[in-house]
Amino acid sequence: MNAVTLQDAPTQAFGLEPVTGAIGAAVAGINLGQPLAEATIAAISAALVKHKVLFFRDQHITTEHHLAFGRRFGPLEVHPLLAENRSFNNDQTAPEVLIIESTAERPLAADEWHSDVTWRLEPSLGSILRCRIAPAVGGDTLWANMAAAFEGLDDATRAHISGLTAVHDWEVFRQGLRCQGASEDHISGLNAAYPPAEHPVVRTHPVSGEKVIYVNRNFTTHIKGMKDAESCALLERLYALARIPDYQARFRWQADSIAFWDNRSTQHYATKDFFPQHRRMERVTVAGDRPF
Ligand code: SIN
Repeated sequence: MNAVTLQDAPTQAFGLEPVTGAIGAAVAGINLGQPLAEATIAAISAALVKHKVLFFRDQHITTEHHLAFGRRFGPLEVHPLLAENRSFNNDQTAPEVLIIESTAERPLAADEWHSDVTWRLEPSLGSILRCRIAPAVGGDTLWANMAAAFEGLDDATRAHISGLTAVHDWEVFRQGLRCQGASEDHISGLNAAYPPAEHPVVRTHPVSGEKVIYVNRNFTTHIKGMKDAESCALLERLYALARIPDYQARFRWQADSIAFWDNRSTQHYATKDFFPQHRRMERVTVAGDRPF
């Protein structure tokens, strides 16, 4: 696969229209297949931090452009925990592209609220998800503003959860690997490479300084130092915040729509109301740093 060369280009003005009062903005007048100036990338980064998820329509770009755009924001990750030949897998020729494909034979949707890869010690900065095949109806994705969710809590709860530490693990993938016949040796190797990660329950966004609730049902296992019942009850209460519509935006996909979200301040959820229609998404994930 040939790398795309991005020479410097004139700064491009683009339109930005919030899609809700809480989160998300539609970006207009920008072609992600064209070289973009540093100033344009800086403006997109700033818009991402402010609006938390950016929506682009009609981006008839190549996979190389998708990768090149992602690399402007930092190094890209390869998801290490996927079994071979499944509908959730890395592209064979460009492993930084994660394919999330649902067919009649293999229906699949990430239908649990989560931030990506919080089982990593350094979870991703953001994800750039491109729709290649959209169902005629259904298959929307929702995002929740977890800084607004923190702000919406009462003072006592904010004080109680600030300073707590949660443990995150990739059990959901371990189960999938076992179902697909992965050996225990292989799983032990992954356990050693990706041990449980500890992150603050309330992280501070490294750019905006906002306080963000940073636990999610997919990957958080418990709150450190708390009795199981207390940890479960608190986590359930915090997970439920992502489900409050006031904190959410919902995006209807078309082929070549792109959503770019800030993984440090949001959670997302993919609906599974489109089965058995075909839906194919491709995700490029920008590496992040250690939450504090
Ligand atoms: C994801 O969780 O990254 C996938 C979201 C989607 O398929 O819409």
